[in-house]
Amino acid sequence: MMRGERMSKPGRLHGKVALITGASGGQGLVETELFADEGAAVILADVSDGPGKALASKIVKRGGRALYVNLDVTRPAHWSRAVRLAQREFGGLHVLVNNAGVVSRTPAAEVTDREWARVLAINLTGPMIGTRAVLPLLRDSGGGSIVNISSTAALVGHPGVCYAASKWGLRGVTKATALQYLSWGVRVNSVHPAQVSETGMMANATPAFRAANRQAIPMARAARPMEVAQCVLFLASDESSYITGSEIVVDGGATSIGFPHVRNVLADAYNKRSARRR
Ligand SMILES: NC(=O)c1ccc[n+]([C@@H]2O[C@H](COP(=O)([O-])OP(=O)(O)OC[C@H]3O[C@@H](n4cnc5c(N)ncnc54)[C@H](O)[C@@H]3O)[C@@H](O)[C@H]2O)c1
Repeated sequence: MMRGERMSKPGRLHGKVALITGASGGQGLVETELFADEGAAVILADVSDGPGKALASKIVKRGGRALYVNLDVTRPAHWSRAVRLAQREFGGLHVLVNNAGVVSRTPAAEVTDREWARVLAINLTGPMIGTRAVLPLLRDSGGGSIVNISSTAALVGHPGVCYAASKWGLRGVTKATALQYLSWGVRVNSVHPAQVSETGMMANATPAFRAANRQAIPMARAARPMEVAQCVLFLASDESSYITGSEIVVDGGATSIGFPHVRNVLADAYNKRSARRR
């Protein structure tokens, strides 16, 4: 398709207003830019202002509609302010992406009360407070879509007890909200990535961890942020109009075919070692 032709078509989020938390982070930046390219007015929310502010200016310079807001997802007053901003500046709200999050890999016997409270507050309580804050405006805007960024840590085990609990909890919040607010025209779904490259969370991964990933994940690599963003876009748009309470796994096959894949990798290595010994 010619570029001009694409530009003349209405985007997949044309006429929608979207609020994305963690918009200064690896995935948040890519999701926000994609949403803006698809015609949404975007509200970028984060506690770390620099990258989100810069992206908001870039979108506006290109002729899009964007606003950055400093929003700590754990603070109800920040959510109230963001909701008022959406109403005042863009006339409503149609999409919330609960993307902000922090990782923690501490096992249960070592975790402190403080770490537990912090991770649960940001990854679980934050999205719940946000959901509560935006729901009436989604209803008054004619309905909408909430996309909760969970993790494969909500489907299988994860080394960090706080992270696992927060992401399993968010999966529950997704289902409960999807059930209760159908009559308001609100759909709620969760997205479950495994590892995502070019993110703050992956920045400290060791070479050994990356090598192990290549062996353990059937697609032999982490996801690129755009591969997750495309899934979030689909759930945010009307293209997913019959999908609610669902979870979409974006993990290169890790949770579905990971076990037989790893067995094949190990069997292969074992056969090669045996052949060398003969
Ligand atoms: N990177 C991965 O491998 C991976 C895998 C599965 C799921 N996830 C999930 O994806 C989401 C996005 O993370 P990412 O991979 O882009 O990591 P990231 O660290 O690059 O981005 C996270 C963003 O959240 C923001 N944030 C942290 N605390 C906040 C708060 N209290 N209020 C508002 N914003 C806050 C950070 O400032 C940062 O910009 C997270 O929910 C994460 O748990 C990430």
